Amino acid sequence: MPPTASPSQLGSGTMNHWGRAMAGAAALTVAATTYAAGIEVRRWTLRQATLPVLPVGASPLRILHISDLHMTPRQQSKQRWVARLADLRPDLVVNTGDNLAHPRAVPAVLRALQPLLALPGVFIFGNNDYYAPKPKNPAHYLFDTGKKIRGGPLPWGDLRAAFVEHGWLNMTHARCQLTVAGQRMVIAGVDDPHTKRDRYQRIAGRADPAADLRLGLTHSPEPRVLDAFAEDGYDLVLAGHTHGGQLRLPGYGAIVTNCGLDRSRARGASRWGAHTWLHVSAGLGTSPFAPIRFACPPEASLLTLVPRNTGAGVPASAWHAAGVS
Ligand SMILES: [Fe+2]
Repeated sequence: MPPTASPSQLGSGTMNHWGRAMAGAAALTVAATTYAAGIEVRRWTLRQATLPVLPVGASPLRILHISDLHMTPRQQSKQRWVARLADLRPDLVVNTGDNLAHPRAVPAVLRALQPLLALPGVFIFGNNDYYAPKPKNPAHYLFDTGKKIRGGPLPWGDLRAAFVEHGWLNMTHARCQLTVAGQRMVIAGVDDPHTKRDRYQRIAGRADPAADLRLGLTHSPEPRVLDAFAEDGYDLVLAGHTHGGQLRLPGYGAIVTNCGLDRSRARGASRWGAHTWLHVSAGLGTSPFAPIRFACPPEASLLTLVPRNTGAGVPASAWHAAGVS
């Protein structure tokens, strides 16, 4: 006859099982949070991708895409790493906003970008250039109510003046033509869509089909803006804002994008319509009130643009990460 267990013995066994499971889950959560806050948030990473957006026969063009620095005055490791990106000697630097996370962070941003400011560059601003971060309930990200929580104003005017003084072009509701490495670009940008400052009609119109590259810039990759750029014939749109999801689940990817973009495009390159490519930078920072990143290291992106007849296109999965020492 098989041994039997009394109800009290069964209850005790069940309790032990659940107790061990809960203790294991708690330990795992503590370990993951410690890693996310203590290690990955400073695991600076250079991502590289090849995008077929140039005319047949054109020479490759290298764009360094930086975004979402969210700088505070004491983030010296980030400042040093970003400054060394100039060693890559890109043809063009594109900054898609959210540089600031502190009212006194402008000098720190300029220290980080100083060597890059000597190169041809263009920029737009994001919501965190205009307004200081504030503590938020994490549920705000998961269940966006549409209500925006903003802190006080940030010194974006000082940052803009410094960028312009160094020769970078302010593409906020502006269009320009720029010749870089012998190739003629049309570049246009909008103000931050996340805070509904975008007025695409101010830059609307067919982008010059005779240019070698038509490049659109937006901080937040809102579909309404991406559709407008695609409709006007832009080859490539660069954006930031999503932080790649900031917390990603293995096998699932970004949990949220913090905008209207679908989760699958939260980081990296993807197609937007038949002609246009989209590249979303996962950015280099976090809100100082949520300084964690998981399965989504802080990044800058080196994009090598090549002719459209070079292969059938490069899926986001073709990206690889490489550390810069
Ligand atoms: Fe951001």
